[in-house]
Amino acid sequence: MAVALVLVLIVVGSVLFHFLSPWWWTPIASNWGYIDNTIIITFWITGVVFAAVVLFMAYCVFRFRHREGNRAAYEPENKRLESWLTIFTAVGVTALLIPGLFVWSQFVNVPSDAAEVEIVGQQWQWSFRLPGKDGKLGRSDTRDVTAENPLGVIASDPNGQDDIVVEAADLHLPVGKPVKMLLRSIDVLHDFYVPEFRAKMDMVPGSVSYFWFTPTRTGTFQVLCSQLCGQGHPLMHGVVVVDTEQDYLTWLGQQQTFAQLSAPQKTGSADQTPDKTMASGLKIAPKLETVGSR
Ligand code: CUA
Repeated sequence: MAVALVLVLIVVGSVLFHFLSPWWWTPIASNWGYIDNTIIITFWITGVVFAAVVLFMAYCVFRFRHREGNRAAYEPENKRLESWLTIFTAVGVTALLIPGLFVWSQFVNVPSDAAEVEIVGQQWQWSFRLPGKDGKLGRSDTRDVTAENPLGVIASDPNGQDDIVVEAADLHLPVGKPVKMLLRSIDVLHDFYVPEFRAKMDMVPGSVSYFWFTPTRTGTFQVLCSQLCGQGHPLMHGVVVVDTEQDYLTWLGQQQTFAQLSAPQKTGSADQTPDKTMASGLKIAPKLETVGSR
């Protein structure tokens, strides 16, 4: 009796915790309401199955408890029960998988008007690159990474000269415009994750992964690294600021292009490494750099 009661309490407690707990998602700041819906469908299916299985267990523990002289029925096979269980399981698993496939397809099918932004992860900081006036990102290669060219932009590619390089600082994006996020890593696996955008993806050294989203409200959002990437992993934070069009253009005007950043190096002022805090009021850069320059 006590065991059955504990099982019932586990179900009631889990359901109450789910509905009453204060730890729910942060308010969404992108177009990916679909992802929330998919998770809610998953919660419902797994929740109902969990409650049904545990309550059935409680019932069996109570109903078929030990009594003197009772004997268990011996029934090693039951075709009807097995087919029903198979059908129910198949329907449940399909319902769990199908919504995710639809969302995934939308997540990686980028609308043609999306602006490209490159995100570069490295131990243990985030950098960004935006196309310049030509609207095109120049090619890049990890082999071209140096202190003066931290993102490995290929200098011989004319498309890269006007690219805007934001090293270890905040990324700004205009609100309401779709962006295609191109993700690169120049050392180990990282994972770009902004909880409010409901978007994350692994960054794999040697390849470029991508997803797209539209920021739906202005604000400052924290970037987390969501893939264990070494000692500094828990400190690998970044910031995405979603601006109004006006604020975004102001910010963009203050950034340096790849050509400007590589200029001092050509004129020979040797120890003049690019000022990493140039990209306006950046509180996060110094901390990350301490970690990065270990
Ligand atoms: Cu980068 Cu964890």
